[in-house]
Amino acid sequence: MTARKIIIDTDPGQDDAVALLLALASPDELDILGITCVAGNVPLELTQKNARMICEVAGRTDVPVHAGCEAPLSRPLVTAEHVHGKTGLDGPELWEPKLQLTEGHAVDFIIHSLRRHAPGSVTLCPLGPLTNIASAIQKAPDIVKRIKEIVLMGGAYFEVGNVTPAAEFNIYVDPEAAKVVFTSGVPLVVMPLDVTHKALATRPRVEAIRALDSRAGHFTADMLDFFERFDVAKYGSQGGPLHDPCVIAYLLQPELFTGRNVNVEIETQSELTLGMTVADWWGVTDREPNAMFMGDVDADGFFALITERLARL
Ligand code: BDR
Ligand code: CA
Repeated sequence: MTARKIIIDTDPGQDDAVALLLALASPDELDILGITCVAGNVPLELTQKNARMICEVAGRTDVPVHAGCEAPLSRPLVTAEHVHGKTGLDGPELWEPKLQLTEGHAVDFIIHSLRRHAPGSVTLCPLGPLTNIASAIQKAPDIVKRIKEIVLMGGAYFEVGNVTPAAEFNIYVDPEAAKVVFTSGVPLVVMPLDVTHKALATRPRVEAIRALDSRAGHFTADMLDFFERFDVAKYGSQGGPLHDPCVIAYLLQPELFTGRNVNVEIETQSELTLGMTVADWWGVTDREPNAMFMGDVDADGFFALITERLARL
């Protein structure tokens, strides 16, 4: 089996970090061409530094890390320190990574990678606001036909919003970018809150990861200890939702997820519902489906996969 070529676009974030570790631990299935960073959970200066730290935890300093957009396409940046802490990776003890950024803007890296590889061979995996991806599409529309698929974390339907009553964070931060992506015609697989709020890092699941007794195991468990506080307090749930790892788990074991191929439109005008993903789950319009919108996950299978892969690091 040849490994699937992917670019991970991310704003780490503890859950982004687990997604990156899961991917970095799976070289047989995933050929990570690069990690591109975007402003989101925290400003770019921190997300790119966090991504480099995570590569070091995984022992994968061979993967290039590029810094990208500092702010959404046409709005000021909204961040989420109240969820992720001041660093974005609060929990474990952090350090100044030795791994340096690779030269070149993330948007140019995405464009060049898609042009360099065979059409239909590169999958994009956005785990944060869609600014880098939309910028690449706007700057080089020829890449649209070359993208195999975009598998992203963002949006919500039945769960509605986590940053406003109507919107999920990644889409809310840059709704104009989301609109570019959702109207691009590229095949989309979407992991909304409807799925990720079922992927809870409960106490026994976190302790199973800590019991790996490795650097990656302790780092992950320490991150998740911090990460659960917000959601447990807000929703009374049993642990923090591992949003972004759903994207990577889908690439490794798609059978863990079920969903529907539906039309999804992005609200960019209304102040009240800005960033809402209006999903035609019940097929009540004749709008063309543009996304495989996931609705469910086998959470035990998902955590078994994460734990098994972290054990390889
Ligand atoms: C998304 O927003 C961020 O806080 C997480 O990293 C995830 O990508 C969940 O709404
Ligand atoms: Ca994220």
